[in-house]
Amino acid sequence: MQKIICGENCYKQIGDLLKQLNVKKYMLVCRPSFFKMGLNEYFADIETKAVYFTDFTVNPKYEEICVGVDLFRKEKCDAIVAVGGGSAIDVAKCIKAFVNLPNGEIYFKQKLVDNEIPLISVPTTAGTGSESTRFAVFYYNGEKESLAEEYWIPEYALLDHTLLYSLPEYQKKCTLLDALCQAIESWWSVNSNDESKQYAKTAVEKIINNYRAYIFENDPEAAKEIMLGSNYAGRAINITATTSAHAMSYKMTTLYGIPHGHAVGIGLAHIWEYMLNNPQNCSDKRGAEYLLKTFEDIANAMGCNSAAEAVEKYKGILKELDISGPKATSEEIGVLASSVNVGRLKNNPVALSEDVLYDLYLKITQR
Ligand SMILES: [Fe+2]
Repeated sequence: MQKIICGENCYKQIGDLLKQLNVKKYMLVCRPSFFKMGLNEYFADIETKAVYFTDFTVNPKYEEICVGVDLFRKEKCDAIVAVGGGSAIDVAKCIKAFVNLPNGEIYFKQKLVDNEIPLISVPTTAGTGSESTRFAVFYYNGEKESLAEEYWIPEYALLDHTLLYSLPEYQKKCTLLDALCQAIESWWSVNSNDESKQYAKTAVEKIINNYRAYIFENDPEAAKEIMLGSNYAGRAINITATTSAHAMSYKMTTLYGIPHGHAVGIGLAHIWEYMLNNPQNCSDKRGAEYLLKTFEDIANAMGCNSAAEAVEKYKGILKELDISGPKATSEEIGVLASSVNVGRLKNNPVALSEDVLYDLYLKITQR
């Protein structure tokens, strides 16, 4: 069971945690922003020896992860601490998963087995919720690979909202949209259950009630709520996985270089509107009536009286955040529509044909 520790400067408990866990040498997985944030001052004082691994990109490649695996083995590390956004935490999960596997064969194509290597995560963005999920994303031969293993959930998640203060505004907006979409998508997912819906509801409420003060005023209380909200959204998708807004986002990220949260965020309102108008195509076993009631519940959590009002509110948030879709040619829209992984759409509560996807991309890219 994961232990979640929250609060100002809670990341400074890592030194004690490493001692308690009898760690001899840990691998610190982080991106260069770690040094800009001044976090290295605290880590330099930790008695337990550290090996830094920073050689990976925002959309980490399999080959980069392999360099980390080799370093972990060479340095005989016995624990991993990940400090950063989703990519640092995902890289850490993969290193933990691959490090005991035999060399020579592609690691993620082998049977993955659990091991005792402790993994401590410290998110420095409020978005992916990766610190509390079993998912890890990386790229192999230019293709996105998403793996899920129950034992990848880090043993510890230290949620320190003060780490959000120095994030650039655009990054805050993108990560916030990722968390909000994850919560909404999880709520309407065909895989939802009472537990996931409760997490999703908590996430939606925290994000909707605090996004303005968090983004535009850097308010500490709001940052605390957003950090928690994104964690709840992570816990929600850990149960359900994501749905259409995520499935439709990946090609926009690779085609236009749009950050993940931005690409996810621009699709959600159009998809929601389509589903609201086409409940007869409901693919959730609980039925169309259940789905429409779910949409109403989501709307209520957003402070709206109807789902139609919530869709408009969501569009208003995008305007307020100045987040819009890319301009696309009709050829590009065709490429986008045919790129969507059908498997990923199975979680969506309403079936979306390629023609529907085309129309949705048309709307997303009409600025
Ligand atoms: Fe996401």
